Amino acid sequence: MTETILVIGATGTLGSEVVKQLSNDSTNPLIRAAVHSIENAKKIDFPGVDLIQIDYNEPDTLTKAFSGVDRLFLLTHPSPNTVEQEFNMIKEAKKVGVKHIVKQSVMGADDDNSEVELIRLHREAEKLVEESGVEYTFLRPNEFMQNFITFHGPVIKNTNAFYLPMGNAEVSIVDVRDIAAVAVKALTKKDLENVSNKAFTITGPNALSYNKIAELLSTATNKKIEYINISEEDARSGMKEAGMNDWLINAILELNGYFREGHASQVTSIVEDITGKSAKTFDEFARNYVDSFR
Ligand SMILES: NC(=O)c1ccc[n+]([C@@H]2O[C@H](COP(=O)([O-])OP(=O)(O)OC[C@H]3O[C@@H](n4cnc5c(N)ncnc54)[C@H](OP(=O)(O)O)[C@@H]3O)[C@@H](O)[C@H]2O)c1
Repeated sequence: MTETILVIGATGTLGSEVVKQLSNDSTNPLIRAAVHSIENAKKIDFPGVDLIQIDYNEPDTLTKAFSGVDRLFLLTHPSPNTVEQEFNMIKEAKKVGVKHIVKQSVMGADDDNSEVELIRLHREAEKLVEESGVEYTFLRPNEFMQNFITFHGPVIKNTNAFYLPMGNAEVSIVDVRDIAAVAVKALTKKDLENVSNKAFTITGPNALSYNKIAELLSTATNKKIEYINISEEDARSGMKEAGMNDWLINAILELNGYFREGHASQVTSIVEDITGKSAKTFDEFARNYVDSFR
């Protein structure tokens, strides 16, 4: 019987790419995409994708979505309730006999004692998956290149600059298309058996300073784009103006400090090892999405 893969967070930056790549191969299992707000569902209008509406804060909405599911892509939006939200879904997965959970986590979650809130919460949720006894793969990616579209794109268009409190930090920033490709391999296990009960730290091909990123964006767009190194207080005001809540602002500022200490520069070969293709460079990313920056 054909299997079913349920993708949580299917309309988001990573989830929509996972759905897109899964739908590109008609020999893949059936794809069920969990949608939160119906307005965003058009982002995943790909052939052969069934939509189902859920709210992972309301466990009752999960029963129908999880019915008959064999493999689960698990992703939650950062919040203080992440662990509880993931617990609800892991419990449901176990109940319906899901065979494999591919969980979106974060680079640094290999540190069991991390005090960085965004990492600590992911590690706690990872432990719940481990304790469930369901086979798993943890995706632990570094910063997304696509943050330069979703967060900085409009600002770059308006001011030819992006503003971050990152000092001289170097980051092995990774393209979401590569993270999704690793996720798809783990979800389908095509050409690959050794994804079970493994955690993958997923990075881009090299560590870049934010000045270097600005230089690569300038070359791709053929206009001068600058990195402005701002204070934490200015970063806090900017995020508050953008409507972010205090918990998320504090968590992001904490993560920024962790990056400045040099923890985001590790480079791994996971993208190539798992997908057989080299990880995309920032240069390639900037050229592919040039219209987002000019
Ligand atoms: N950004 C980075 O650089 C980075 C790096 C490493 C790890 N991560 C991790 O990646 C994850 C975020 O991935 P992303 O950026 O792809 O997410 P995203 O674009 O923010 O998307 C979040 C998804 O979750 C859905 N959602 C939100 N609230 C929901 C609810 N109550 N019930 C059901 N669905 C809900 C959203 O649907 P609606 O839009 O309809 O609400 C959306 O599809 C987080 O775990 C983060 O820690 C991020």
